[in-house]
This record gives sequence, structure tokens and C-alpha cells, in this order.
Amino acid sequence: MNRPEGPLSRTGERAFGLYVHVPFCTVRCGYCDFNTYTSDELGEGATRAAYADTAISEIVRAGAERGRRPVETVFFGGGTPTQLPSADLVRILDAIDDVFGLADGVEVTTEANPDSVTPESLATLRAGGFNRISFGVQSAVPHVLATLERTHDPAGVPQAVRWAREAGFEQLSVDLIYGTPGESMADWRASVEQAIALEPDHVSAYALIVEQGTAFARKVRRGEVVMPDDDETADKYVLADELLMSAGLGWYELSNWARDETAQCRHNVLYWHSDDWLGIGPGAHSHVGGQRWWNVKHPAAYAQRLAAGDSPRQDGESIDDPTAHLERIMLETRLRSGLDLSALSPAGRDEVGDIVRRELATVHDDRLVLTRPGRLLADAVVRQLVD
Ligand SMILES: C[S@@+](CC[C@H](N)C(=O)[O-])C[C@H]1O[C@@H](n2cnc3c(N)ncnc32)[C@H](O)[C@@H]1O
Ligand code: SF4
Repeated sequence: MNRPEGPLSRTGERAFGLYVHVPFCTVRCGYCDFNTYTSDELGEGATRAAYADTAISEIVRAGAERGRRPVETVFFGGGTPTQLPSADLVRILDAIDDVFGLADGVEVTTEANPDSVTPESLATLRAGGFNRISFGVQSAVPHVLATLERTHDPAGVPQAVRWAREAGFEQLSVDLIYGTPGESMADWRASVEQAIALEPDHVSAYALIVEQGTAFARKVRRGEVVMPDDDETADKYVLADELLMSAGLGWYELSNWARDETAQCRHNVLYWHSDDWLGIGPGAHSHVGGQRWWNVKHPAAYAQRLAAGDSPRQDGESIDDPTAHLERIMLETRLRSGLDLSALSPAGRDEVGDIVRRELATVHDDRLVLTRPGRLLADAVVRQLVD
């Protein structure tokens, strides 16, 4: 595969990562439909205290099936991984090292809510091999956080970031959400500016998605909150891009900005290049060698399967060539490194001239790279390239 040089560049070899899902949160934010549970929702058969051992049993099982293979990125996501004691997260990482082996220079990330860390918990994580932390900040504005039903006090965010730096985290990322009902342009500017003041190495900014089945979607349906129109949301994307760029953070994927190439999230880059990864935990998805599969969703069912010596896998599929090709175009078009034109069909290549003429993309070294207006219309560009 012809790929631009980067931290995970390989010739004829796929990079390999592990995702560890930690399905616990203190409260569920109204807008979130991730596979996560509060203590009340968890029910019988799955506890936080037992989780590390259950996940380790899946890692041991996966290693026995697949053999050793050096792991280049590990990502603990959720849920809220930092709801578990740091020592448990480190034990899971140690098991990954024992079973598969961590590559030299491995990137090890955990997601964290700002109010779920202490100087001690961060020091334990850092000493145990974690070197990247991604804080879910979302907004700096109290009424926006209230609409999102986020529980953290924004005043505590700089302190959590300072503790992470003092603990020695080399890479620090901040997640933001824009387009929350009631969020003004000035609110969003304040959130981005306060995020920049934290001097992060990396920022992810996502437009709020109304996920069906969530408490937030019910509020939207009942008219209790009103989603902003697409133009306003696009203006917020542009404002974020301008502010982040002026602060020295460049986009490298539609929703992701980094200080430089070394600050990119290598784990996400691995997903976007359709490399190989194993997903550990309830509901986790894996993608290895053209196969995709996923685990049973509920933590209790997951724990029961493993305790009985059974696979936690629920179902899977082979990714056929047309699907892999379509996914490659969808994912690589979103990257600053761009889409290799040779990936396009003759009909797709015929569309490139029109896309460039409309200033939605440029072509450099036979790669199609979206302009800022093109980034706002990325889905339409992809449709034009594949239809
Ligand atoms: C699932 S969370 C896990 C990390 C941590 N619990 C947190 O909330 O920051 C990862 C990211 O997904 C974002 N997210 C979840 N639901 C979303 C939605 N409906 N629209 C946009 N972003 C969403 C979160 O806000 C967070 O930044
Ligand atoms: S957004 Fe994060 S903290 Fe909120 S419910 Fe989802 S996973 Fe938990």
C-alpha cells in the first residue's frame, strides 16, 4: 500500500494495536450512547473490582489463539477507564506486554474525565507505562456542560492537566464538543481558547451527534432543546480550525489537530489506515487480517462467557474487497495526508477535476487533500468519488 511516511508507515506489513474497553461511568451523560454502565445499571455478574481479571483472561485467551505480536499502540477507552484503580489499568497493560509484547516506543493512551484523576492515580499510570492521556473536557462554559449533563467542574480542568504534566505524561489531548443547544459562538470561542491555554499536544473537536435512544434525543424530540442549524455548526468548525491553527495545532484528520506529527494519536491513525487491532472488553470490535468481529455487549454476559472458558465473541464478518476499498476511500479522504488517487476507480478519478475546480480539494503528489470548505462537505465529496 502506498502510504505517506509517518510514525506507523510500513511496507507490506500492518501496524498492530490493542483497544481495551472499560465500560463504567459514575453517571451517564444524556447525549452518550457508548457501551457504558453506572453502578445501578450494571446488575449482577459484573463488578468493577473483578473487571481487570476478566479483561486479562480475554487477553490471555487471545494470545493463546493468535501468538505473540509486538503491540505498537494501546488505547484504554470507555466509558471512563479512570473509574478503575490505576493499579488495575497497569495490571491489564502488564498482561498485554506479557502476552503479546509491547514494541519499543509503544504509545499507551487512557481516556479520562477531569474529575476522575488525582496526582497519585496519574503517577501510578505514568510509572506503569502510560504515556498519553486524553481528557474529556467538552466545554468550558457551565450552561453548556449542564445541557450535556457533564458532572465535572470546569475550574478543575487546569488542575487535572497540571497534575498529568507533573506526573510526566508526554502527550496530552483534550476532547471538545461543539453545537450543543444554547451554545453561542462566544461560548464556543471561550471553550477553544481555554483548551488552547492548557497547552495540549492534541485536540479532538466533535460536532454533537443526537444519538437515537438517548435521554438527549428524547429532549430534542419533545422540543425541550433545539439543535443548531448546519450553517452555525459549520461556522464553529471554521472558528475552531482558525484558533487551533494560530496556536500551532494543525489538522491531520477532520476532527483532530496536533502540535506536530509526533503528537498525532497513533492509535487512531492505525484505525484510519485500516491496520490490525484487537478489541478487549464487552462490545469491543476487532479488525485483523481482513476479518472483523465483536464481543457480547453487556459486561455481565462478557464476564460469564470468560468465566466459563468460552469466547466472548458475539459475531463477525469477512471484509470483502469492495467493502475494504470503500472504507479506505471514506477514511483516507478525511486525512490531511490525503487519498491516494490510485485507490479510485476510473469513474471516481473522473470526478477529481470537478472537486478540485470547486475548491473542495487539491491534488499533491497524486493525493487528494481536502481544503477547509471541502472538510465541511467531506461526506458529499466521498459520495461523489464512490457513486
Ligand atoms: C465515549 S467518551 C470516553 C471518554 C470520557 N468518558 C469522556 O466522556 O470524555 C469519548 C468521547 O466521545 C464523545 N462523545 C460521546 N457521545 C458523543 C456524541 N453524541 N456526540 C459527540 N461526541 C460524543 C465524548 O464526549 C468524549 O469526548
Ligand atoms: S460521554 Fe464519557 S463520561 Fe459521559 S457517559 Fe459517555 S463515556 Fe461516560
